[in-house]
Amino acid sequence: MPKQLLIESDPIPDEVELIIIDLGSTPQMPPEDTLVENQTIYLLPKPVTVIEVGQPFELTSAAQIVATGDALAAGNLLADYLRPATGFVLPVVEATDAEHPVLHLLIDPNISDDEEAYRLEVNAESVTLRAPALAGLFHAVQTLRQLLPPEIYGASLVTSIRWSMPGVTIKDQPRFPWRGGHLDVCRHFFPAHYVKRYIDLLALHKFNRFHWHLTDDQGWRIEIKRYPRLTEVGAWRRETMLGHWSDQPRRFDGKPHGGFYSQDEIREIVAYAAARGIIVVPEIEMPGHAQAAIAAYPELGNVDTPLEVSGEWGISDNVFNVEESTFTFLQNVLLEVLDLFPSPYIHIGGDEVPKTQWNTSPTAQAYMRAHGLPDAHALQSDFIRRMDRFLNAHGRTLVGWDEILEGGLADNAIVMSWRGEEGGIEAAGQGHDVVMTPESDTYFDHYQFDPSSEGVAIGGLTSLEKVYGYEPVPAALAPDQAKHVLGSQGQLWTEYVPTIERLEYMVYPRMCALAEVVWSPRERDAYARFVDRLRTHVKRLDQMGVNYCRRAL
Ligand code: ACM
Repeated sequence: MPKQLLIESDPIPDEVELIIIDLGSTPQMPPEDTLVENQTIYLLPKPVTVIEVGQPFELTSAAQIVATGDALAAGNLLADYLRPATGFVLPVVEATDAEHPVLHLLIDPNISDDEEAYRLEVNAESVTLRAPALAGLFHAVQTLRQLLPPEIYGASLVTSIRWSMPGVTIKDQPRFPWRGGHLDVCRHFFPAHYVKRYIDLLALHKFNRFHWHLTDDQGWRIEIKRYPRLTEVGAWRRETMLGHWSDQPRRFDGKPHGGFYSQDEIREIVAYAAARGIIVVPEIEMPGHAQAAIAAYPELGNVDTPLEVSGEWGISDNVFNVEESTFTFLQNVLLEVLDLFPSPYIHIGGDEVPKTQWNTSPTAQAYMRAHGLPDAHALQSDFIRRMDRFLNAHGRTLVGWDEILEGGLADNAIVMSWRGEEGGIEAAGQGHDVVMTPESDTYFDHYQFDPSSEGVAIGGLTSLEKVYGYEPVPAALAPDQAKHVLGSQGQLWTEYVPTIERLEYMVYPRMCALAEVVWSPRERDAYARFVDRLRTHVKRLDQMGVNYCRRAL
């Protein structure tokens, strides 16, 4: 039985009702009349422990937020979150007096060794958020929002509500350090203002990585000052495939599509994410998924035929060549990327690299002979190793999809295991860190229901229940290998996701289920109880106007 199901047996002070509740369940709940007002607490992801104790705190315009030093950023975020719906412009101050109800944010190194851990205490007089570092305070702020009525998530003023929070003591910390949400902005472009909303939703669910897939065959989406044609040419395609890629005959819409993020927009998004505890991990694909870049700069390719930015889905044969000038080009691109993204991790793709062109290219053959490489897999490995050394020399860690195992894994690489778990198991066995991203469980471009009922998607069937049931640590790993599993991440590839409405339908509520997988303790609620909590949680998403898929609820 999980710890939080136990009724507290320590001596209980007479005047205080002290109950440890099991979130979203009924068996241990006391009769209705012993509960303080508005006490149904539905938190998502579920915290480690919630103790319901004492009287609620009522938030009024008299409240003040106390935060100094590193806590200030979380205090400001809290004030911003509370303002639209309440209309309260709560001051963020260094200290206050007894006149004011107080929301107190404190850095307290004694809480935990995990910077993302936090404690949250609510009683009639005050609310206290404690964490060893700012990262934990951000999560405490998200939990605090969930203790308020769902209307707190709305964008406009609500005057008919009492903004009360139940009296609770919450102790919480994440299970995994890598909790990611991925977004492909190449197959379809989503504007900067929407990327911020995507980040808002990740932060709400206590994710801490935004994996931004910025380059692919169908579009190059990041401004690179040194190579302007990457976006002048590479960000735009003439037309886009209609229907599923396997449909015959192939059909196209005849409409140009494209867009890119300026470096100013990228800096703004990176700062926006950091102010919510999220690291933005950029992905610059190489050596495959390179057709948009080659269309812009044909000298990067292996063939003389001019290329267009692709309007088709599927895997393109057009990969980067292995001329020294191409390595220089890619490293120059990465230098600008490093300048824009403080992330310790830089993703270089590495997936789906057909070897067709290298196998016939005289340059590639000469390169393999000169470097003693037996085949094109070894060449792919050599390519990634060069990037690994380059990134390491600049103090960063390379991340790549599991194909980077082929021909030998670069020394310090982190592997994202997407073609099942085998790549992750192999890499962890070699002592490498891994992020488990198997398509069967974490690809949100898959169907959620019977395909005939859902509009076109790439394939697969990844139901909400399947995501919720995912266990990121494969049973095959010994404990010393299991520690290399950094966590998991939800992927959204956007071939079949042309609009924001469709995007949100595909990602939510599956991302809510994944939030529990990566944050909550390993022994999770039964699925039905999770869904029960989710039914309340989506009221928050309703307030934000999220077009989540309602069918699983
Ligand atoms: C991938 O889905 N090609 C990583």
